[in-house]
Amino acid sequence: MNKPLPIIIDTDPGQDDAVAILLALASPELEVLGITAVAGNVPLALTEKNARKICELAGRPDVKVHAGAIRPMVRSLVTAEEVHGKTGLDGPVLPEPAMTLQDQHAVDYLVETLMARPAGTITLCTLGPLTNIALALVREPRIASRIKQIVAMGGGYFEGGNVTPSAEFNIYVDPHAARLVFEAGIPLTLIPLDCTHQALTTAKRVEAFRAMNNKSGPATAAMLDFFERFDENKYGTDGGPLHDPCVVAWLLQPELFEGKLVNVSVECESELTMGMTVVDWWRVTKRAPNATVLRNVNAEGFFRLLTERISKLP
Ligand code: RIB
Ligand code: CA
Repeated sequence: MNKPLPIIIDTDPGQDDAVAILLALASPELEVLGITAVAGNVPLALTEKNARKICELAGRPDVKVHAGAIRPMVRSLVTAEEVHGKTGLDGPVLPEPAMTLQDQHAVDYLVETLMARPAGTITLCTLGPLTNIALALVREPRIASRIKQIVAMGGGYFEGGNVTPSAEFNIYVDPHAARLVFEAGIPLTLIPLDCTHQALTTAKRVEAFRAMNNKSGPATAAMLDFFERFDENKYGTDGGPLHDPCVVAWLLQPELFEGKLVNVSVECESELTMGMTVVDWWRVTKRAPNATVLRNVNAEGFFRLLTERISKLP
């Protein structure tokens, strides 16, 4: 097997973030160098704690978890307790984490790690608002040319938005950060709602987790039982979209996904369309392509991968 791909996961757990972290920790193709928490689904004090809870659930208290931005760069923080519950990880009963939070701020950790390691070797997997990444780029612009790639869950175009009619949550919470990151010239793969809305946590798929004879499987089922109810009611579907694990699954099996290199620009002025990701899918403008935008996923293959990997966890 090739050397594992070094990744840093930037995240706002969130049940779907949690499943993405479990998938990454269960996959020997990846080396999780560290996890950086950001305010998003719930405030930072909860997202960093939830990240530590998930590392311990996966039997990985060795993973370094760093707390980052407590709020977006410009706008006030908007959270999503209505989706994720007041803890951000409602569903399973998980013990308070024994592993400690790292003292180093996430932004300093990102800069230090990217400057210390060989250029072009680290992949950033972003599962929440892009505040930490943007702040790191402002703090040390030289990291832009040292990041191998960013794989980000965020945005929506054909599917519209999920927090407003035009904006997806991760981008809406910090549109200025998203614009800065999208314009930084870093190789970017964007996984928007257009793709993640095809990855539904149907009853049959959730039962596969519940039936596992380990802790991680039933805990995943309990997370999804809670997480999916909001979107099931909203969209009238069997299950809800499992957004963030698509980021890790793309790294593991990119053939499960389809997309193309186009320009994505972020609305940061109009309150009506704040945070909208304007995807030039048909290349009708002269705006330079800056992201491979994924539009389709093989949902059966995605859940096969997820189930197979999570069954291997403690
Ligand atoms: O819009 C979905 C995204 O917002 C996911 O990353 C979810 O965890 C929330 O952060
Ligand atoms: Ca998230």
